[in-house]
Amino acid sequence: MKPSVLQYLKLFLLFAVGGVTTTHMPDQDVLASLCKLPLDGHFSFDDVSTAAWDFGNLSSFMPAAVLHPCSVDDIATTVRHVFSRGEHSMLTVAARGHGHSLRGQCQAAGGIVIKMESLRTARMKVHSGASPYIDASGGELWINVLHETLKYGLAPKSWTDYLHLTVGGTLSNAGVSGQTFRHGPQISNVNELEIVTGRGDIVTCSLEQNSDLFHAVLGGLGQFGIITRARISLEPAPRMVRWIRVLYSEFTSFTEDQEMLISAERTFDYIEGLVIINRTGVLNSWRSSFNPHDPLWASQFETDGRVLFCLEMTKNYNPEEADNMEQEVNNLLYQLRYIPLSLFHTDVTYIEFLDRVHASEAKLRAKGMWEVPHPWLNLMIPKSSIHTFAREVFGNILEDCNNGPILFYPVNRFRWDNRTSVVIPDEEVFYLVGFLSSAPSLSGPHSVEHTLNLHRQIIEFSYKAGIGVKQYLPNYNTEQEWKAHFGARWETFQQRKNAYDPLAILAPGQGIFQKASLPWSS
Ligand SMILES: Cc1cc2nc3c(=O)[nH]c(=O)nc-3n(C[C@H](O)[C@H](O)[C@H](O)COP(=O)(O)OP(=O)(O)OC[C@H]3O[C@@H](n4cnc5c(N)ncnc54)[C@H](O)[C@@H]3O)c2cc1C
Ligand SMILES: *[C@@H]1O[C@H](CO)[C@@H](O)[C@H](O)[C@H]1NC(C)=O
Ligand SMILES: *[C@@H]1O[C@H](CO)[C@@H](O)[C@H](O)[C@H]1NC(C)=O
Ligand SMILES: *[C@@H]1O[C@H](CO)[C@@H](O)[C@H](O)[C@H]1NC(C)=O
Repeated sequence: MKPSVLQYLKLFLLFAVGGVTTTHMPDQDVLASLCKLPLDGHFSFDDVSTAAWDFGNLSSFMPAAVLHPCSVDDIATTVRHVFSRGEHSMLTVAARGHGHSLRGQCQAAGGIVIKMESLRTARMKVHSGASPYIDASGGELWINVLHETLKYGLAPKSWTDYLHLTVGGTLSNAGVSGQTFRHGPQISNVNELEIVTGRGDIVTCSLEQNSDLFHAVLGGLGQFGIITRARISLEPAPRMVRWIRVLYSEFTSFTEDQEMLISAERTFDYIEGLVIINRTGVLNSWRSSFNPHDPLWASQFETDGRVLFCLEMTKNYNPEEADNMEQEVNNLLYQLRYIPLSLFHTDVTYIEFLDRVHASEAKLRAKGMWEVPHPWLNLMIPKSSIHTFAREVFGNILEDCNNGPILFYPVNRFRWDNRTSVVIPDEEVFYLVGFLSSAPSLSGPHSVEHTLNLHRQIIEFSYKAGIGVKQYLPNYNTEQEWKAHFGARWETFQQRKNAYDPLAILAPGQGIFQKASLPWSS
């Protein structure tokens, strides 16, 4: 059925004039035809409201259908079907991992959401040997990957702070945590991917095979294909972890020590940091599950309005090497300039450490404080401007940051691969700074409005001061902002889009490309 000239005109006005994204034409005939597709899994059309929710709790777009795939073919068949309708259909397709997006990135207004977790049934396969790896479904949770590899005494090398995220979801962004300084982000630790492209083709890619697609998808914000399988590099897993926190009152000593530790040959296995604006923040943060004695310990360090900095690190060990570990840890701590007596440590199993945020999740859930709005802001700041940034943000913009933890740690750029799609600052060392706010109140300092206003000030200041900041888990509303985000890489990003998802079917919730507006864009 060919659309009339009038329909084209309507579409043109819709997209060319306002850039409005919320109006969607019903695609009843296409939707009806979905039911006839030969699938191992199934579509649901009624019970779709959970696919209109994400962790951010700030954006909600109702899809027309949810696909519960039981095979990779189900996903390919569906995308191919939508692709075959060409520009005549407005239908889009969003892979949904665990729905931990912040701004509707895993949603598809009036489109099809693919529940990637349904694909988990595919068996994970561990290959031990000289260069061990695991093949896991794109919809698999990292916690399950860990459970599986531990059976072989192995584990992935690079993590996120929280493991109830999916393989495909974090690889579409980068996947960063305290191991990134030494192993690179998670996207630096993948050997091979299986992808369903925006044309519905199933393609295996790696450094050797279809390498452009491989690099495009890593950090690609879901724009080029759906990750159905990932081959993740593994290493021997330690049994235990010494988990250490120390405090600083001096920003300069704090960052110099962090920078020394991430460049040292012999160093910790995990290095992060926290900024503590208001001491009560230590107690109320969802990371305070560190130890039951934490409140007592923390209460010794009154901030009196001053800002404190917490350096967090771990050393992996096996029980029989505990003496060695003590020695190495002491050698390292000896070189640091934290506040005497502010050292705190605990020994936990590797899995307890890696899954640490889940314990806090349980506590917050019990208090009804998990499913609240999360206006998070994640930034990457070049080392050369971190002082300028900190002086203004922690000294001026944020007076009370009880709204959630502020992560603050440096990483080495040479561990990132510049052929991937992820955008990072143009400097050898840059900081990851995460304002992980919760906004449970409708008004006042703990409201969405107040928090977003603070974040706007931080961003505006950064641009004005020429900080060279890049957003992680980026969120922009206009093509101009996306172009600025990608900078010199925009052209490549666009070319890859034309090659792998020319109709802009995939991950519409990122708001980078719009289906049906493509024919009129340059
Ligand atoms: C409590 C918490 C802690 C976090 N900690 C960290 C952290 O330490 N480090 C870090 O890097 N991130 C962290 N994140 C952010 C996390 O990486 C993102 O939320 C990310 O989106 C992964 O979540 P998800 O698997 O639920 O993916 P979703 O939110 O469901 O999807 C994210 C995007 O990827 C696309 N997508 C999903 N699956 C696939 C797939 N298989 N193939 C292609 N595209 C896909 C979606 O369409 C969407 O655009 C954290 C998030 C939360 C909620
Ligand atoms: C936020 O979450 C609440 C509780 O789950 C829900 O009722 C509300 O619709 C959500 N809002 C958005 C924008 O997702
Ligand atoms: C610190 O947090 C407490 C509790 O939320 C709040 O009452 C107080 O005003 C905050 N202090 C500062 C200096 O903002
Ligand atoms: C990546 O970095 C290398 C080495 O610094 C450089 O030669 C190359 O041009 C860069 N490639 C891209 C795509 O930026």
